[in-house]
Amino acid sequence: MSHKKSSHTRETAIRGHIVTFTGDPFFHPANESLRDIPDGLILVQDGITQAVGPYDSLIAQLDKNVVVTTYSDGLITAGFIDMHTHYVQASIIASFGKHLIDWLNHYTFPEEARFSNREYATTIARIFFDELLRNGTTTALVFCSVSPQSVDVFFEEASRRNMRMLGGKVLMDRNAPPAILDTAQSGYDASKRLIAQWHGYGRNTYAITPRFAPTSSEAQLEAAAALHREHPDTILQTHVSENIAEVDWVQSLYPNRQGYLDVYDHFGLLGNRTVLAHGVHLTARENARCSETGTAIAHCPTSNSFLGSGLFRVELAKNTEKPIRVGLGTDIGAGTRFSMLETMGEAYKVAEMTGFSLDGVKLLYLATLGAAESLGIADKVGSIAVGKEADFVVLDTKATPLLAFRSQQVESLQEQLFVLEILGDDRAVAATYIAGELAYRRARQAPPPHPKLSTSKKEPV
Ligand code: GUN
Ligand code: ZN
Repeated sequence: MSHKKSSHTRETAIRGHIVTFTGDPFFHPANESLRDIPDGLILVQDGITQAVGPYDSLIAQLDKNVVVTTYSDGLITAGFIDMHTHYVQASIIASFGKHLIDWLNHYTFPEEARFSNREYATTIARIFFDELLRNGTTTALVFCSVSPQSVDVFFEEASRRNMRMLGGKVLMDRNAPPAILDTAQSGYDASKRLIAQWHGYGRNTYAITPRFAPTSSEAQLEAAAALHREHPDTILQTHVSENIAEVDWVQSLYPNRQGYLDVYDHFGLLGNRTVLAHGVHLTARENARCSETGTAIAHCPTSNSFLGSGLFRVELAKNTEKPIRVGLGTDIGAGTRFSMLETMGEAYKVAEMTGFSLDGVKLLYLATLGAAESLGIADKVGSIAVGKEADFVVLDTKATPLLAFRSQQVESLQEQLFVLEILGDDRAVAATYIAGELAYRRARQAPPPHPKLSTSKKEPV
């Protein structure tokens, strides 16, 4: 392999403690699924990782003209992947006091109606993408609004930043205000035009996006399935079984179907390119059906707690008999944090409430390679590996006095990851790289740490 610099190539070298996945820690021990390189080097050429390994073994390959950027208090991982979010809801985060259906009617639908205005959509899209980068999120699967223009703005912004993004126009033809309804035909036509324009352009992937069963007629779900058959390498995303009242409502709207998931199954909307958000109230039979069809689930813990929706059982999804691919989503604006670190921390608490312990390694997997595998993009992103796109996040284990204080006591990588996930947030993101380029660097220095403990953890105090 040559790392000679030429006028046509762009090379980057990043040195630090590298942590990345080679497998699924839910099914393999951490020492077989996690690669830990305490003093590592990543060589990037034209946005693609060319080499990753111990600094000592790679430094000889490096062109002398390439400057090495070193992060000494950092952990370098693949960029975070947010598997479910709504950019058009960025300004209704923290809206008080309602559960799902009332929250949609009261806050969400009026806000989404504003996205027929291109200028407004652009303002919000820029805030949304800035927040992703500040939080170390390099890829997301995103709901736009029913307005096709909201999708143009979204992909324009993604392309400008060269980020690997997935998203699409919301389809809804009933049970919402007329200003934000389409029809089965107009939604199909607009989505088709958007696929032609954006799908596969740069790093963009189109996601066919029926909002959820209550806001789509049978004709619209049929049209969505037809579109997906015509463009099988797009993603299909929707919501399922988030809230008990919603599950009951779907049963009354579709009395001939055997439950919520069966509505999507009936119209041919399940499969290995389908991502369902939430799945909090899926039955054992429905979980098995997700597994059989290859359908993935986006677990959105901050949203599920905020809207009082319920507790997702991650251990039921990640079972060995009938496994379901799972990743984590922020679900902005029902979700309360852009930070995937905080989302991991909340996923831990939700799992504890169900009697299951998610360790620091599994949590990181759900926010990186697990999400990439769920989205069918693990050949491109989700881990730091030769041939993959060079999207990274640098986490600062000393970002706050408390993090520094707690991090000095950790005795394993697993413990360090867990401490970051429970105490970390946007302050712990020192830098974010997109395709080998620095896309975000935290401005301020970390504050001085608390004093070091003089006693070791192993000695009695
Ligand atoms: N179900 C249908 N639409 C939505 C939405 O916008 N947010 C959430 N959390 N659930 C939904
Ligand atoms: Zn959602």
